[in-house]
Amino acid sequence: MTTARPTTARLTPLVASLPATVPFVGPETQERARGRRFVARLGANESVFGPSPRAIEAMAAAAREAWMYGDPENHDLRAALAAHHGTSPAHVAVGEGIDGLLGYLVRMTVSPGDAVVTSEGAYPTFNFHVAGFGGALHKVPYLGDHEDPGALLDRAALTGARLVYIANPDNPMGSHHPGAAIERMVERLPEGCLLILDEAYVELAPEGTAASVAPDDPRVIRMRTFSKGYGMAGARVGYAIGAAPLIAAFDRVRNHFGMTRMAQAGALAALADQDWLAEVQARVAAARGELARIARANGLVPLPSATNFVTMDCGADGAFARAVLAGLVARDVFVRMPFAPPQDRCIRVSCGTAADLAAFAAALPGALDEARGSAAGASPSGELPGQGRRGRVSAKQPRG
Ligand SMILES: Cc1ncc(COP(=O)(O)O)c(C=O)c1O
Repeated sequence: MTTARPTTARLTPLVASLPATVPFVGPETQERARGRRFVARLGANESVFGPSPRAIEAMAAAAREAWMYGDPENHDLRAALAAHHGTSPAHVAVGEGIDGLLGYLVRMTVSPGDAVVTSEGAYPTFNFHVAGFGGALHKVPYLGDHEDPGALLDRAALTGARLVYIANPDNPMGSHHPGAAIERMVERLPEGCLLILDEAYVELAPEGTAASVAPDDPRVIRMRTFSKGYGMAGARVGYAIGAAPLIAAFDRVRNHFGMTRMAQAGALAALADQDWLAEVQARVAAARGELARIARANGLVPLPSATNFVTMDCGADGAFARAVLAGLVARDVFVRMPFAPPQDRCIRVSCGTAADLAAFAAALPGALDEARGSAAGASPSGELPGQGRRGRVSAKQPRG
């Protein structure tokens, strides 16, 4: 008779030591748990406006060829991206979304114990990869609602970090720095430290947000995606622009057949349809305006957004915002919120169609009433957050 060995015996000590966690619980998981679909899907910063019709056509045509592996070099897409950015394909790596590329990059550059710097409460999938490769993650606080380039650089110098991560624009706050601030950051990078500039939302940001960094600058790798402005989150296409030796190193670790034919063809067609991107930019701007209006009408403070979502300050602490979020989910509206204090005083709502935003507007008052009810029950003064008294309740929060 054989004795069963615990599965963990087969894992590396590093993986065995990791918590059983996922960076984001998907809306599908939540729907299965609830036994009910959401009526509005406004939590994952997807683009409800969808891909370019030309990208849809290209993907449909490529579906007939799905019996073939995709081109492992992503040749045509890399060539088109290089032309789009005025560089050569040697400076462009394509991968399974920014998420996938972040994983490869951490694997390529971080040995167990190496220091890596990010902001407390910033995009968690990056942290997930750093943990998965044994890096030592150091976090600095936001300055108000912005990531803090000065603090990131100081911590990188102090810890001898291999990588420093910043998203511009930022998720979860929707804030942005002008490109010039990122350019100054590059000039101050400590020796040996690589800046990961995550520009997932840059197509939706004001003019001047994209830093001017030469593709062959060895100090920076910038990452972009077809998931946001181009509306193709489910196709999983991201790309990195950087110095040729770093880009070439992706070939040593990446999944060479990770990009499907549909994804490659769809992204190529999407890139060629800049009119559709302009259309999406206009719809996102309108939706941001409407979300801000709904927030204000309910006593919440919408933060300025350079992205396809609006982060709303609920005017109290994380427990209150979590109660608002729970109330929205209970009313079949999928939204998310920042994980860490002090950002977790907010909820985060993605841009949607008119029907989505109407569903959010209909659900929010009830969710707020419920949350205020439990907050008033918990507070002897009976003070109610989120009723236009935010200056008072959130005066403790740093401002950017
Ligand atoms: C800052 C940031 N980076 C990266 C991603 C993921 O991009 P992708 O879909 O290309 O993996 C997101 C998605 O929400 C994001 O907010």
